[in-house]
Amino acid sequence: MPFEWNAHTYDALPLPHVAWGQRVLMRMRLTGTERVLDAGCGTGRDAAVLLERLPGIDLVCLDASEQMIEAARERLGDRATLVVADLTQPLPIAPVDAVMSVAAFHWITDHELLFRNLAASVRAGGRLTSDCGGQGQLAILDEALVRVTGKPKQYIRFAGVADTEAALRAGGWQVESVRLRPDPLRLDDPDLLETYLATVCLGAYLNEMPEDEHEEFVRAVREAMAEPVVDYVRLEIDAIRSRASSDVTVVLHRLPSNHVIMNIAEWFAGRLPEWFTGSPDVTVDREEILVVGRLRVPEPDDGSAGSDSAAEGRIARWREETRRERMTIADEAEMRFGRKVAWGAEYGEVRVIFTSLAIPVMTRLRQPERRVLDTLVAAGVARSRADALAWCVRLVGTNEESWIASLREALGAVDEARKAGPAT
Ligand SMILES: C[S@@+](CC[C@H](N)C(=O)[O-])C[C@H]1O[C@@H](n2cnc3c(N)ncnc32)[C@H](O)[C@@H]1O
Repeated sequence: MPFEWNAHTYDALPLPHVAWGQRVLMRMRLTGTERVLDAGCGTGRDAAVLLERLPGIDLVCLDASEQMIEAARERLGDRATLVVADLTQPLPIAPVDAVMSVAAFHWITDHELLFRNLAASVRAGGRLTSDCGGQGQLAILDEALVRVTGKPKQYIRFAGVADTEAALRAGGWQVESVRLRPDPLRLDDPDLLETYLATVCLGAYLNEMPEDEHEEFVRAVREAMAEPVVDYVRLEIDAIRSRASSDVTVVLHRLPSNHVIMNIAEWFAGRLPEWFTGSPDVTVDREEILVVGRLRVPEPDDGSAGSDSAAEGRIARWREETRRERMTIADEAEMRFGRKVAWGAEYGEVRVIFTSLAIPVMTRLRQPERRVLDTLVAAGVARSRADALAWCVRLVGTNEESWIASLREALGAVDEARKAGPAT
């Protein structure tokens, strides 16, 4: 059963939740027009950050605690829809495009029920991005509680990776990634540690106890702790609301839709300083956004831009001069679109792509395919099988460029058509 929280003391604490919230927001891949649910929103801290970055988001903040929702109302006013509701009950909200959640799911013991409930309120293809306590978390506090109460803690569920993946699938989600991340918090000041424990960790105990016993209980627990460390281990979930399963859907999901690509390109067109003539080329895949523009710098009359060395030198200078500003823009874009940014520039006849991501792509090959790679390696065309495979991909990409482009276009059209249809 959810219980009440002391929202104002909570907000005044040195909460590691702030960083957890930042990490969730970084992973969300929003374009800025979605309807988003913050499940277990607390005082609306992450919601406020999200709205500051993407004011066009239609945000629903939901929490079981009236005090938390009241604090969220003070912070957000009418910029979000605020709902007092229990995540283990059918949610009284219209469907959303994405769900975020920070430090809330471990308070719910039946994760399959939770994920099923969330799935019922999310459009097919919508993403779930969350953080909560995971397996191994608060071992020090648990030991102290056993010493003080004689019983292990029962109201909380610190799930592991395998059980979470199973619960997600059973609840109607495709798993993208589930992982554990240790993140201990040391609080050497005993008073601060006690306030922290009382407000953040021991609410379920204190709610069952007369108020005049709270102080003594919290002190006893703090003194029984082997170290003044709140040993957090975070469970981070990225999942996608399953559609009626079909291979086409899965393939489509791996390509960013035209809508997403356009949104990203438009954002860059608006955000970039006057560095380039015309709009830069913006190429997007699941991991990366590559931005390549033609430098605006006038080409010298003496024709020296015609020399490749001169052009390379000019591009190198631009790269140095704009490094800091490009990093700022790349950070903003990563926050917004959940992808790294790589840069490139053109000047004269020269096009240079700066460092871009190399992502490992696992595969299994049978002997005839392996022999192709081995021949390329033996002939010195490639250094290794991996290098040979990349060479083959580049070759197909170049020779079949127009065919691949028409495939992409066709898939984009299917994606748009599917979006216009009813959610499953
Ligand atoms: C530690 S707070 C985190 C709040 C906020 N997301 C943050 O990071 O500061 C946990 C929140 O989960 C909410 N919560 C716990 N169980 C819930 C449930 N069954 N339904 C809705 N909210 C719940 C609590 O009321 C509380 O606001």
